[in-house]
Amino acid sequence: MLLPEKTLEAHDVFAGKLTMDDLETLIDFKTGRQKRIIYSDPDIYQLEMEKIFGRCWLFLAHDCQIGNPGDFIRTFMGEDEVLVVRQKDYSVKAFLNTCTHRGNRLCKADHGNKKSFVCNYHGWGFGSDGKLNGVPLEAEAYYNKLDKSKYGLIEVAQLACYKGLIFATFDKSAPSLEDYLGEMKWYLDIWLDAMPEGTELIGTAMKVELPINWKLPVENVSGDGYHLGWAHAGAMTVSSSSKLTDMEVGNTSVDNSAAVSVAGLNGHAVLAALDGKSGYAFYPDPEIAENYLGKNRENVIDRLGEYRGKNMWGSQINLTVFPNLQMLPGLNWFRVYHPKGPGKLEMWTWAMVDKEMPEGLKSMILNNVSRTFGPAGLFDNDDGDNLQAITEQSRGWRTKQMDIYTNMAIGGEHSRKELPGVVSNGLICEQNQRYIYRRWQEMMRANNWSGIPTYNSLEEARATEAG
Ligand code: FES
Ligand SMILES: [Fe+2]
Repeated sequence: MLLPEKTLEAHDVFAGKLTMDDLETLIDFKTGRQKRIIYSDPDIYQLEMEKIFGRCWLFLAHDCQIGNPGDFIRTFMGEDEVLVVRQKDYSVKAFLNTCTHRGNRLCKADHGNKKSFVCNYHGWGFGSDGKLNGVPLEAEAYYNKLDKSKYGLIEVAQLACYKGLIFATFDKSAPSLEDYLGEMKWYLDIWLDAMPEGTELIGTAMKVELPINWKLPVENVSGDGYHLGWAHAGAMTVSSSSKLTDMEVGNTSVDNSAAVSVAGLNGHAVLAALDGKSGYAFYPDPEIAENYLGKNRENVIDRLGEYRGKNMWGSQINLTVFPNLQMLPGLNWFRVYHPKGPGKLEMWTWAMVDKEMPEGLKSMILNNVSRTFGPAGLFDNDDGDNLQAITEQSRGWRTKQMDIYTNMAIGGEHSRKELPGVVSNGLICEQNQRYIYRRWQEMMRANNWSGIPTYNSLEEARATEAG
């Protein structure tokens, strides 16, 4: 039974006056309710840029993308364009990709190697360390009075790396990356630390612009096992390997004990089969992957312990790092969402592999990522159609005042000694979406990090629940 709607008073958000009371009204964690307006309202979107993308640790680049001094990649933190540059001493710096003279975009290339970045407009030149080194006609036009030390590129507030993944935040008061990830590190390690040499991205970034609010694909991949058997019924039929029909992924039983949803990890989430092999269920011929898993299983158990090595490594797992990074070991894709306004996003997808994988397996994975989750991928087209429609259905004057729900299986949350976080049985329960929206609301209403709770277990999540 659906909960009765609470109609948002039209004078608040619609008049551009977003109040704290409105923020309380937009999400109800206890009942799993959201206001549709969160997918379309420009004021809410602007507040997200400030309170979420302006403060969270955001993924910038994989170590392998900028291996050598001078290597750079151009990316985004929210709508801010950022250059991530490997320094001479192999440290990494990240700067706003904007010239400090008249504000031109400094670098137009997506990636490359440069000793300096020279602006197209008037020729100011910046070093890879961000310092302003060269100004044309410095003596004639500025009478040598320009203090170049004041016009360097603007650097992010904090930058840190976790097992090959480089993150940054614009907020100098944000907790350390280690603390921000919290117990989510335990789950990330199932991919990032399973093999001694770690991971690498292969192929190139597949970039797609979609008319979709950024939160919708995040909540979808974080926890929506419900749509698999319906929205992807066709794709699952044609892409599942007949050899692996016994695999648990796609098993839609709510009580399926061989799969879990895990949330309550500071906003991060995990959806996981626990069979140790289903990650490769959607490959035309999974034999090479099965051999790889078999050959390395004992080593992985040594590195990650019995539970993760046996039950989780090789399983289909969806990993979400709040707010906009997701990766699926098994299907082996790695993805970041860049918001471009309330109704638009850019989605960047790579194939990510263990460095030690044989070349044949790597190329099979690259092909499979394109086939399933690339721009013309079978699964992504199913999702894109639905998520675009939800975004559009949040715009109508009357429709956007409506509620929508992630209220499935409320009350099924529990703790498990072997799994950090808040656990629910099976892939179908909407627990993870509830916790993602809870984190969204916590960040939107907090003025600083001391007002944002930290929780990595059911007990901590309950203790920090807003009244
Ligand atoms: S705007 Fe870049 S040099 Fe003038
Ligand atoms: Fe999907």
